[in-house]
Amino acid sequence: MTNSADPYERPLPDGLSLETLAIRSGLARTQYLEHGDPIFPTSSFVFQNAAQAAARFAGDEEGFIYSRTDNPTVSSFCRRLAALEGGEACVATASGMAAISATMMSLTRAGDHVVAARELFGATVQLFGILDRFGVSSSFVPLTDTEAWARAIRPQTRLLYLESPSNPLNGIADIRAIGALARSHGIPLVIDNCFCSPALQKPLDLGAQIVVHSATKYLDGQGRVLGGAVIGDRSYIHDTLGPFLRTTGPTLSPFNAWVLLKGCETLSVRMHQQSANALEIARWLEDQPGVERVLYPGLESHPQHALAMSQQKTGGAIVSFEVAGADDAARRRNAWALIDHTRIVSITANVGDVKTTITHPASTTHGRVGAEARREGGIGEGLIRLAVGLESPADIIADLERGLSRTGK
Ligand SMILES: Cc1ncc(COP(=O)(O)O)c(C=O)c1O
Repeated sequence: MTNSADPYERPLPDGLSLETLAIRSGLARTQYLEHGDPIFPTSSFVFQNAAQAAARFAGDEEGFIYSRTDNPTVSSFCRRLAALEGGEACVATASGMAAISATMMSLTRAGDHVVAARELFGATVQLFGILDRFGVSSSFVPLTDTEAWARAIRPQTRLLYLESPSNPLNGIADIRAIGALARSHGIPLVIDNCFCSPALQKPLDLGAQIVVHSATKYLDGQGRVLGGAVIGDRSYIHDTLGPFLRTTGPTLSPFNAWVLLKGCETLSVRMHQQSANALEIARWLEDQPGVERVLYPGLESHPQHALAMSQQKTGGAIVSFEVAGADDAARRRNAWALIDHTRIVSITANVGDVKTTITHPASTTHGRVGAEARREGGIGEGLIRLAVGLESPADIIADLERGLSRTGK
């Protein structure tokens, strides 16, 4: 819903670039004609009289009612993100997991089936376990094996779900091919676009039907708030997902929406600079004897480098790498030693911040998924995920060198 009370409002011209939309789209001025974006920290909105309240609740009159359902600041963020992703409509949620679980639950019922990538963020893998308790089963397939996706689809399959690049291994799915497969079965392909953001990749243009986001990551960009969003066509967002969210209630707060609106303004600049820093660091890591493998889509050595470059503008800002070691225990010891001897990068689980962050996925983000799922998903004990920020890459390289010098056999 829009809320503009600006008598001088000038509609934006068509055909604006993402950088302009990230700053100019979605705004609606109040009667004070403020230049900064307003925040509406209110739980509810007043009505002129009982008849107007009834008309709003019946949907006969447009207008805000209650912030669990809609709020002007949240609405501004949704309009902006829909414009950036090139989608018809968007709803925002309190976190990325709220966006993912609401999408899954709004599209399925007991007896249904989901096909998902084997390589996913740990909490998303666990979500499929919860869905199973409600009678929704899942099959997991290798992200990069498009034929395996086709084989896993059953008559009960209601959606295909993947991340590309995947967290934390940076696997790349053939979005065009899997999108076409989904369309041929009349079901949506849902993509978590968290690692790229619309500044680097637009899954809807590549053939996906629904995009989910952890806005906590690059959309905020400075590690300040949690948030999530779902973008898709108007009928799914307004008629299916909207009522589900209104009733289940994982709403984004107006303050967080305001922070995310501000985050979008610098999204493109951050994504491109952080990607350039990541490429420099990935190239350096490739030359280090203590490093067995570097997984970064921007490197020519990445198995899906060409595919990644046909879908994304850059390799992204996340570099995963495996430290060497004689066995699993040694690999974990070395990974932890590297992490513990850095002095600049933050040892924390978030990604998408301007501060570089470092994580050992096997013992943190993927600790709860179980050893077998980790093995199948390729999350080894030597794996480290580095989410590269905006510090000087030379300083980050020196920090990693400090850590690497403390690893052994
Ligand atoms: C790829 C991916 N998707 C979803 C999420 C979940 O987002 P949130 O923490 O905002 O719930 C994360 C969090 O790390 C993530 O990395």
